[in-house]
Formats: sequence, structure tokens, C-alpha cells
Amino acid sequence: MKNKFILEISGKVVSGLGEGKIFLMQSYYLNAFKEKLGFGPYPGTLNVVIDDILSMQNRVELDMLRGIEIPEYREKERVLGSVKAFFAKINDEIDGAVVIPARTIHPKSVIEIISPYYLREKLSLKDGVRVKITVFA
Ligand code: CDP
Repeated sequence: MKNKFILEISGKVVSGLGEGKIFLMQSYYLNAFKEKLGFGPYPGTLNVVIDDILSMQNRVELDMLRGIEIPEYREKERVLGSVKAFFAKINDEIDGAVVIPARTIHPKSVIEIISPYYLREKLSLKDGVRVKITVFA
């Protein structure tokens, strides 16, 4: 894999309201993730809150970088918005991806991670635990 940039973002694990799961686990996105990222994600997103300036700058940088684009999908009564994804490694150990939906209720300080693994178990994560996300852009 040829990657031009490696950005580091760290933050603390938080719980959401289960909406990551409902949104990103639509079959349209699941198939797109499989096709474009090469893995079927664990059903859910790990939410991480950024609380330092460098990580926040890197998060803003991601908005300006290309990433892997999952286009929007129009159904009869609703539109599934586009999602931008970047391959990532969590705690230097586990593969996954940062997913940035074009429409989201989250502020920019909350970053969402998908992975083939249940990260809370794999990395012994609880709310408040710090994680390092290495993003390949
Ligand atoms: O409820 P919330 O929005 O935090 O999470 P969710 O998207 O419904 O995901 C269900 C649970 O799995 C949450 O506790 C996530 O933090 C966790 N998760 C994980 O540990 N590893 C993943 N690859 C995805 C989600």
C-alpha cells in the first residue's frame, strides 16, 4: 500500500447512543466497506473524543485529504449520505478505518472507527481509556 501521509490522532473512548451501528450497518455501507476496505466490519463504530490540539489539527486535515470515498446512495424515501474512509491502525496493533460521514450528528472532535474486530474486547477498552489512531491518508 502506498501511503503519502501518516497522521496520528489520539483521544478517549466514549459510548454513543448506538446510532453508529444503525447508520453504518445498512447493507449498502456494509457492502461498500467490504468492497473498498476489504473487510466486513464488526457492527458498530468505536467513538473516540479528541482532546488535544495536535490531534484536532490532524482531524481537520483529514477533511482536506482524499480518502476512500463511498458515494451517497439514493433510495426511494431516503438518502444514505457519502462517507469518507481512511485505513487506520489502532494502538499500533489492530487494523481498522476512520469513517467520516458527510452528514453526522457528531462534532468534529468525535472520530468514528470501524474494524473487523470488536475493539473493546481486543484492546481491553473502556470508556475514558486513551487510544492512538494511526491514519493512513
Ligand atoms: O452505542 P455506540 O454509538 O457507542 O456504539 P455502536 O456503534 O452501537 O457500537 C456498539 C459497541 O461496540 C460500542 O460500545 C462501541 O464502542 C463498540 N465497538 C467496538 O468495540 N469495536 C468496533 N469495531 C465497533 C464498535
